[in-house]
Amino acid sequence: MPSAKNLSPRQLAAFTAGIIAVPVAIGIFLLTLNWQVGLGSLVVVFAGGYWLILVTMERFIYRKIKLIYKLIYQTKATKKEEMYFKYILPQKSIDEVRADVEEWGERRIHEIEILQQNEAYRKEFLQNLAHEFKTPIFAIQGYVDTLLDGVGEEAIRKRFLENTAKNVDRLVNLMNDLDEISKLEHGEQLLAKQNFIIQDLIREVYDSLSIKTQAKNIRTILKKGCEAPITGFADKEKIKQVLINLVENATKYGKQNGSIIASIYDTDDQHVLVEISDDGIGIEEEHLPRIFERFYRTDTARSRDKGGSGLGLAICKHIIEAHGQSIHVRSTPDVGTTIGFTVEAKRD
Ligand SMILES: Nc1ncnc2c1ncn2[C@@H]1O[C@H](COP(=O)(O)OP(=O)(O)O)[C@@H](O)[C@H]1O
Ligand SMILES: [Mg+2]
Repeated sequence: MPSAKNLSPRQLAAFTAGIIAVPVAIGIFLLTLNWQVGLGSLVVVFAGGYWLILVTMERFIYRKIKLIYKLIYQTKATKKEEMYFKYILPQKSIDEVRADVEEWGERRIHEIEILQQNEAYRKEFLQNLAHEFKTPIFAIQGYVDTLLDGVGEEAIRKRFLENTAKNVDRLVNLMNDLDEISKLEHGEQLLAKQNFIIQDLIREVYDSLSIKTQAKNIRTILKKGCEAPITGFADKEKIKQVLINLVENATKYGKQNGSIIASIYDTDDQHVLVEISDDGIGIEEEHLPRIFERFYRTDTARSRDKGGSGLGLAICKHIIEAHGQSIHVRSTPDVGTTIGFTVEAKRD
């Protein structure tokens, strides 16, 4: 017999009607000593009791529960839900109804948490954005105002214009990064995967950044033993973008006369590991978990004002994760930084 707790309304009505009908029928039988009358009264009391209890429950309890159900499902009931209220709900025990409501409550709490997180994220994002735009725009304003006031010397005017141009470049970079990240977040860009030799791509990236690396007299090399070509399968242009970001960082936060070393390993049949290492200023341990966040820069990076937006690594992470791969960092202050990511191995 099911436990009394989990009875559906019908079972409960039958159960209760039985409890009333049996002793009443026995009493009547004992009084009349006529088994037909006893049996008749059993049937009558049972049927009457069953009907009465069911109607009472339906009227006073289940209607209210239905209301609650309608309330938690908010909208006007659809056809399907009407069916549900009419045929399925009355079969449910109070315990099942309670479980339903509890589950609904938990779902709501979860939804609210996500909304709160999004809201906090949105606020922070706007704040960061305003902050990032403020610096170059105010600088430009300053230079332009001074130029308009008419500074005497030609050389100074030229320097002011150069500084203005630099800040305009910074704004353009920021816009490009923002554009890139919003595209990635909307999942708009499809990946055009292909097989390519990773070493070749790294050399290409080294070449394209040679003006910047040479300005700091930084050597750009492949690690010894990593020269043998390894083929990966990915969106080559996107991976190039990741490598450019990493090599640029390694240059920006690298030492004068330092070196940047790329290493490439076949880790297993499915993955290739690519790492870019520098011997620069490094990153304090406390910042490591956060450097892939949008706009996140360490205090040193901020105070030295290298002109970055703090979006570079966030973009890298997006790209790598869009490939279903992972990116990681190891770093020691004043020793150097290694940022590595995986790429799908060659596909035949
Ligand atoms: N190779 C590196 N060496 C030291 N710090 C780094 C390196 N790469 C990244 N970082 C730190 O991580 C932060 C985030 O990097 P990134 O998103 O590329 O922003 P940005 O280059 O615009 O500053 C940098 O501001 C810097 O503090
Ligand atoms: Mg960067």
